[in-house]
Amino acid sequence: MDFPVRRNLLGRPVQWLRAVADTSFAVHAGEIVGLVGESGSGKSTIGRAALRLIRPTGGRIDFDGEDITTLSSKALRPLRRSMQIVFQDPYDSLNERMTVGALIEEGLSIHRMGSSAERRDAVNELLREVGLPAEWAGRYPHALSGGQRQRVGIARALAVRPRFLVADEPVSALDLSIQAQVLNLLLDIRDRHELAMLFISHDLSVVRFVSDRVLVLYLGRIVESLSAKALHDNPVHPYTEALVSAAPHIGSRDGRSRIRLDGDIPSALHPPSGCVFRTRCPIATRDCASQEPPLRQIAPGHAVACWRRP
Ligand SMILES: Nc1ncnc2c1ncn2[C@@H]1O[C@H](COP(=O)(O)OP(=O)(O)OP(=O)(O)O)[C@@H](O)[C@H]1O
Ligand code: SF4
Ligand SMILES: [Mg+2]
Repeated sequence: MDFPVRRNLLGRPVQWLRAVADTSFAVHAGEIVGLVGESGSGKSTIGRAALRLIRPTGGRIDFDGEDITTLSSKALRPLRRSMQIVFQDPYDSLNERMTVGALIEEGLSIHRMGSSAERRDAVNELLREVGLPAEWAGRYPHALSGGQRQRVGIARALAVRPRFLVADEPVSALDLSIQAQVLNLLLDIRDRHELAMLFISHDLSVVRFVSDRVLVLYLGRIVESLSAKALHDNPVHPYTEALVSAAPHIGSRDGRSRIRLDGDIPSALHPPSGCVFRTRCPIATRDCASQEPPLRQIAPGHAVACWRRP
């Protein structure tokens, strides 16, 4: 996925930023795939492209076996309902002038689902499902806490009965004590509705808690794809290893020493040649600068992009 970042006088792009390159993965019904990486690594870009909120400049996006990469917005309309997003900031994403009930009902009205009485019943049911009292339909968002707002955000996304949900940093703005409640709610919902979910977070502990599979992203590249269990027991890529060793609940148990990453993630405008991680990799050699390592399968369900590992 390339973004034009500089244009000439005629408005033609003269410089592009490659936010995400060569990324391929699938999310199946009833499965949560976690996407983890530092700020600017391209997580939201992948999430938005998967929902076709942006049109990718390369690659291909399939939904239910159909190629939706280049569908027009009109052709996408019938699919929109099936693909929903929960945003990071429950303070930004809810219109303060609408009641909780109206916010949850909005998608149902847009997609002309049910009579008004049926929609009202659905709102009550959804409020119950996300753990809020049905009477709160008449309240305004300002009366709610961050966690309660995020529950409303989740109810909004669920209202139209989606089959694919992107949750983009859904708990990052919440207090630690509230995070676990909202994560458990997402897990319940996944089970109850057999949803396919792409769960995005910069926080490895959070991603591991909810995900069946995890994609580790660095500067727009998937550097490792593995099960949540393998993430704990057997991280292979040096970047994943560093993330795991820095996550207190994951890496510290078996006496693995902590690996510190020096420096910042390089600019996506000027990525390093060869392996994009090489400027921060503790085991890089000169060869790593010449060619980009492909994502290679090393075991069933486990793939790594590194010349030196495994
Ligand atoms: N519309 C855009 N135009 C130009 N560059 C963009 C645009 N959207 C994103 N980018 C760039 O693409 C890269 C990836 O951004 P993205 O928002 O996907 O990262 P992220 O992993 O979600 O980060 P964060 O954790 O901060 O949310 C960044 O370098 C960002 O500056
Ligand atoms: S390819 Fe080289 S620089 Fe990249 S992660 Fe592997 S060892 Fe490090
Ligand atoms: Mg983001």
